[in-house]
Amino acid sequence: MSINQLVYVSQATRKMSPEDLSAIQETAKKNNAPLDVTGSLFYNGGWFLQVLEGPLSTLDKLYKKIELDPRHKNSRVLYNEPASFRTFPRWNMNMTNLNDRQADKYDELVEVIEAAQTNRNIGSASPAVTLLKIFRG
Ligand SMILES: Cc1cc2nc3c(=O)[nH]c(=O)nc-3n(C[C@H](O)[C@H](O)[C@H](O)COP(=O)(O)O)c2cc1C
Repeated sequence: MSINQLVYVSQATRKMSPEDLSAIQETAKKNNAPLDVTGSLFYNGGWFLQVLEGPLSTLDKLYKKIELDPRHKNSRVLYNEPASFRTFPRWNMNMTNLNDRQADKYDELVEVIEAAQTNRNIGSASPAVTLLKIFRG
């Protein structure tokens, strides 16, 4: 089945604790699995960056729901394109808390989320394209 990848950035409405992030991830995993949605969520202490992968109509509906969540605001779609393969095939929702400073590829990810916040490119690539490239392996 053909899939799309949607990437958005949003601003957290308050500081998220590790428990808050786990709660979001658990709900996302439970809901995304039967929808055939995979992806990854990044949080840097103030902003979220999320990659959602799945059938186009499913993603549109899911994004509309997520956008209304009061835990974030000012959500902005950075990328919404067909993809020939998934970047996060094994994750119904992965979670990376960049506050931990433990993350694999930490420096690159910090740069991507900051560029997304301020709507600037990294070199000639958009933050979303850079993000997907980081995980292409
Ligand atoms: C940053 C962020 C990312 C989220 N990602 C997802 C997601 O990928 N899938 C999902 O179902 N819900 C996600 N949610 C939660 C939804 O906004 C909503 O609370 C949830 O889907 C409601 O699920 P329920 O109807 O099972 O209670 C996210 C929320 C936030 C704040």
